Amino acid sequence: MKIRLGIFISGGGSNMQSIAKACQQDSFPAQVSLVLSNTPDAKGLQLAKQLGLKTAIVDHQNFSNRKDFEQEIQKHLVKAEIELVCLAGFMRILSPFLVEKWQDKMLNIHPSLLPKFRGLNTHKRALNANEKTHGCSVHFVTVGLDEGPVIAQSTIQILADDTIQTLQARVLIAEHILYPQTIKQLCQQL
Ligand code: GRF
Repeated sequence: MKIRLGIFISGGGSNMQSIAKACQQDSFPAQVSLVLSNTPDAKGLQLAKQLGLKTAIVDHQNFSNRKDFEQEIQKHLVKAEIELVCLAGFMRILSPFLVEKWQDKMLNIHPSLLPKFRGLNTHKRALNANEKTHGCSVHFVTVGLDEGPVIAQSTIQILADDTIQTLQARVLIAEHILYPQTIKQLCQQL
């Protein structure tokens, strides 16, 4: 039986797409059972529909507090029988209410070599810090922002003429390889 993944997105959804493509292989140990977005107009929702995936929108703006928002998300996860949650460009900070329910079963991909550059604008910060290398990390989600245990990382060289855009583009390519690979390894151990 394949592990049932729930993927959370807020925007472009290119990582969601790379996971979904990997899941199309018969030998891949997981399937995408739900793509959930907190933004109704996320481009990734269209991509998910084109891929024939089940989608849900839980718009945070419709909730007066975090717990109600997360309770609604949890309902969708239970209904879709989700076993592993993958945050993929999901731009809401989740509270202990949801994070603790999914302890060791919720992953995130972050565009830096954690613990370096937690939070936003990682590519700009890596360039400003004159780093020689940069990359991406897949980690378990814990209550602290981008603080959960790192499962896997991919390193890329920073080139002398890199801009935020060129660096971001190369890191994103690395993300598209690392995330499905890590999910595969993890699911094989479940
Ligand atoms: C990725 O760089 C991811 O690491 C970060 O947000 C970006 C999302 O891109 N958290 P996409 O929506 O998967 O295209």
